Amino acid sequence: MSEKILVTSALPYANGPIHLGHLAGAYLPADIFVRYHRLAGDDIVYICGSDEHGVPIMLRARKEGVSPQEIVDRYHAIIKKSFEQFGMSFDFYGRTSSPVHYETSQAIFRKMAARGEFNLKKEKQLYDPRAKIFLADRFVRGTCPKCGYEDAYGDQCEKCGTSLSPADLINPRSAITNATPEMRETTHWYLALERYQQELEAWIDSRKGWKSNVLGQIKSWFSDGLRDRAVTRDLPWGVPVPEDVAREAGVDAEGKVLYVWFDAPIGYISATREWAAEQGDPERWKKYWQQQDTRLIHFIGKDNIVFHCLIFPAVLKAHGDFVLPENVPANEFLNLEGDKLSTSRDYAVWLHDYLEKFEADSLRYCLASIMPETKDADFSWKDFQARHNNELADILGNFLNRTLTFAHRYFDGKVPAAATRDAQDEALIRRLKEAPDKLGALIDGHQYKNYVREVMDLARGANKYFNDKAPWKTRKEAPDVCATTIHYCLQTAYALSVLFDPLLPFTGKKIRGQLNRPEDFSWADAAELSMKEGHSLNPPEIVFKKIEDNLIAGEIKRLQKNKNSTSSQEEEESLPEITLDDFKKLDLRTARIVKAERVPKTDKLMKIELDVGGESRTIVSGIAEQYEPGELEGRDIIIIANLKPVKLRGIESRGMLLSAEKDGRLSLLTPYARNTVRQ
Ligand code: MF3
Ligand code: ZN
Repeated sequence: MSEKILVTSALPYANGPIHLGHLAGAYLPADIFVRYHRLAGDDIVYICGSDEHGVPIMLRARKEGVSPQEIVDRYHAIIKKSFEQFGMSFDFYGRTSSPVHYETSQAIFRKMAARGEFNLKKEKQLYDPRAKIFLADRFVRGTCPKCGYEDAYGDQCEKCGTSLSPADLINPRSAITNATPEMRETTHWYLALERYQQELEAWIDSRKGWKSNVLGQIKSWFSDGLRDRAVTRDLPWGVPVPEDVAREAGVDAEGKVLYVWFDAPIGYISATREWAAEQGDPERWKKYWQQQDTRLIHFIGKDNIVFHCLIFPAVLKAHGDFVLPENVPANEFLNLEGDKLSTSRDYAVWLHDYLEKFEADSLRYCLASIMPETKDADFSWKDFQARHNNELADILGNFLNRTLTFAHRYFDGKVPAAATRDAQDEALIRRLKEAPDKLGALIDGHQYKNYVREVMDLARGANKYFNDKAPWKTRKEAPDVCATTIHYCLQTAYALSVLFDPLLPFTGKKIRGQLNRPEDFSWADAAELSMKEGHSLNPPEIVFKKIEDNLIAGEIKRLQKNKNSTSSQEEEESLPEITLDDFKKLDLRTARIVKAERVPKTDKLMKIELDVGGESRTIVSGIAEQYEPGELEGRDIIIIANLKPVKLRGIESRGMLLSAEKDGRLSLLTPYARNTVRQ
């Protein structure tokens, strides 16, 4: 019977690109799950989107001197595109800065307030008198009371790992203006989580098939005792606290927004609403969120467990109208070449970089094979190469290629007729027949590694069948037997194209193309032996080319370099003093970027055409790793106009773009004019 399923993957923060750790945690398993259920004929909707609020996004915007909206616009586009190229099959990819999301989260907040689900608390908080805002979490810097590190954050010391509250810091200062913060009084809404402990414990007890790593974390939250949680903040970026609710409570709503972890999960609901509207059936979202027979499944990484297993369920319960998750199969973390990922040191493999050099399916295969299902796992480039070359290419690719080549060479590119089956044929067919149910159950039970192993085993078995049957020998001695062998090899090739499809969607499609089969197929088709006698095949093509050592060596070298570098923050070197006269020699001018394009065969160089006060000029700049040409065009920047011209790759570069490095990333300097609006 067809099931109704709603699947979500954690909404990534739109302040940086996606890396492999993200994929292995919350995205790839969800996509495999969804693709399988779609093929199984279930009624399934897959929702994701960008998480566009929160302090790190604001900090990043301030650092670059742009608005938070510009930051999230930039990363939303980058993330969305790289997900598409990776084959993520979301039904809708939303964003939490959308009007529907504002409206949805405010409505939920309003209803919860009316039901008395919040407690108001007055508290004293640090306030930046220069920036005129309250300083939450990461906005306060100061000396760690534990270890004396002078640059500790208000919520945590990065040196010794102690979690802190801003008031713990010695010599606190504002991260924005460096002003000394003052204590001021402010009022916030707290979700009354304490009173939900019993109900949540009973609900968790009633869940079946939850992973032990997830339950372990939840138990420890329960044993510490749940505490009320502030769900509003004093910040200029976020979903505003609804004014009517504030008025009712006698609080000034000015400058208050919903806490990012309150609004972000609601993003799943608002994105489903937007999806329904796009389908031309605006009420359809309710069928998934408000009818109790929905299987709701949240895919996340382990750092999101408390929010998805306790806080968001409490919100859903408190609101009253929604389904709660059937399961939250959170994954552990992925390490890289034996070390923890570090985005600030650029010790990571970025998805958009990866996709410039390799195929999506190779990464999907490798990550699913090592998925951190119950404990942290390690990605290494050598292992990646080995899995691609020895498994994808040598087993799956080889089987397909030899089968198709044989059919073309000796059977005129058509499916030959099968004669009587022998025991080996029977065994192969039996395996095929069992496969859809068996593999489907593994995927549905969130055992992705086992699914990958089993489906590759099927290909391995097929290869062995080909070897054992030796059609190159029977071709002359027993042509019927030879035809039968190739017939069943082709049936198996089709079955593999279906059974691998949730994992390797691009490859599945390629195989069906070579087999000349349509794209409307189902999971059950895999075992139907549906390749008809006489059906014409398309010419074979190699599906997986071997990955050469030098490509892999380059990747390893890059990581090694970053592993040994300290973060750029720490290594800021100081240069000798200069005089004002030195500085005056620079002819600084504002310019507008008219056109930008990458210099072919280079990673770093970008050729930039500028309009400098009506005069046009060309500058070649090493920023192509940080910026996309499209995001540069139309932007105003600052250049040194009197730098001696140089030729780079045959292009004359006249001048230099000004940029500054922060946290290992390059930011172009832009003129900041008050009272102007960028459109
Ligand atoms: N942006 C968060 C993170 O990357 C995840 C948000 S998940 C949601 O950790 F439920 F809030 F959407
Ligand atoms: Zn410390």
